[in-house]
Order: sequence, then C-alpha cells, then structure tokens
Amino acid sequence: MPYIKISPSILAADPANLERDVKRVEAAGADYLHIDIMDGHFVPNLSYSSSVVSALRGKTALVLDVHLMVTDPEEFIDDFAEAGADIITIHQEAVKDLRGTLEHIKSLGIKAGVSIKPGTDISVITDVLDLVDQVLIMTVEPGFGGQEYMYSVDEKITELYNTLKKRGLAVDIEVDGGITEENIDDATRSGANVIVSGSSIFHSDNYRDTIHNLRNRAVQGVEKRESSDIQQR
Ligand code: DX5
Ligand code: ZN
Repeated sequence: MPYIKISPSILAADPANLERDVKRVEAAGADYLHIDIMDGHFVPNLSYSSSVVSALRGKTALVLDVHLMVTDPEEFIDDFAEAGADIITIHQEAVKDLRGTLEHIKSLGIKAGVSIKPGTDISVITDVLDLVDQVLIMTVEPGFGGQEYMYSVDEKITELYNTLKKRGLAVDIEVDGGITEENIDDATRSGANVIVSGSSIFHSDNYRDTIHNLRNRAVQGVEKRESSDIQQR
C-alpha cells in the first residue's frame, strides 16, 4: 500500500463544533489534522492562535500538522511546540533565517516542514531539503479554503519528487488547496503523498466515504506514476 496520509484542514470544519468535527474525521480514518495559522499579514486572513492547538491536543490522537502562514514564524515556534504540534511547517517567503528556524524546530523534537506558494520556485528550498521532514507545496494562493486547485503546480511537484529521488532523501511531499476526489490523483501522480483537504471532507455528507474515496484515488495516482517510472527505465 503506497504511503498516503490524509490531513483534513479544520479551516472548513464548523468552528462552533470543532471538537465534534475533529473527532468525526479521526473516527473516519484521517491520518493527520491540518491546522492553518494565519496572521493577516503574510496572508490576508486571520485564523487561530496556539491555544487552539493545545485545546485540540487534549481531544485527539491525530498527528497535529501545523501550517504557519505568518510573517517571522521564528517568533512563534516555541509556542506551537509547547501547544503540542507534531509537525510545524513554515513558509520560505516569510522567514529571515530558513535553515536556522528549521533547525530550531528539529531541536524541539518536532518534525519540520517548509512551504512554498504557487509562484515560488523549488530552487529556493533545495539547500534545506536535507533538513526537512516535509515540503508543503501550495496548490492555491494561501489564505482561504475553498479555492480551485492549480494544475499548473503539478510540474513543480514532479520536479521536487525527482530532486528528492536523485538525492536519496525520504521527505514527504504535502499538497494543500483545492484538493478533491477529481484531482487528488494528479497530485499523487506528480509525487505528492501527504494530502490536505478542507472543503472536500468537512463539507461532505459522509466523512468516512470521502476519506476512503480520496485515499483510493490517491493510490491510483501513485500507481500511474509507478507504471510510467517503469516504462522510462
Ligand atoms: C489555504 C490553507 C488550506 C485550506 C485548504 O491557505 O492553507 O489548508 O484550508 O482548504 P481547501 O481544501 O478547502 O482548499
Ligand atoms: Zn494549509
């Protein structure tokens, strides 16, 4: 079974029933819980502070996948670590000392991720690929849930996948934004294996069926890539 992780984004959950919705996705087979932190500066929207992470830490055993869409994320790492984050992902575009901040996250015993927006080239993160546990490739402009998946980013996912393979690095490729049952296989065929999905899961009638379908379609994408890898050999 290919290594696929499904990370529902709570931005699309019912804010008045967050605990209920988180427990539902956990029971429905999610692997991670994606928590979007927005500061109204790096992105034109606001969301949660670390108090939401610590509140949820007490309610779920899911891996807490914290996506910091904030300027100067180095100032908030300790807060989110203490709150119970399992993975902290920072944006290359938002940080002064990328390597130093990633090293700091790792020194706290937490998985470190680096993210880039759709218009940012992977060349700016190639130096830190040896250090990170995951790269988060944004497939929409960050800031809002419910946007359309940008197919133009598929090529960048493949470029990253090939770079990691060439360098023998076991780094997860996470994709975030506009992922549905219709396009998830494009992302996984391109090389992604950790899938964020907000609206598709939380706005569906049956979380279990949706997560199951997303996972199956994701695996089909991986199989398509594997068969084209074999043909190229
Ligand atoms: C966008 C956020 C995403 C968003 C995904 O800035 O990083 O995590 O919540 O939501 P959907 O799946 O609805 O695009
Ligand atoms: Zn996100």
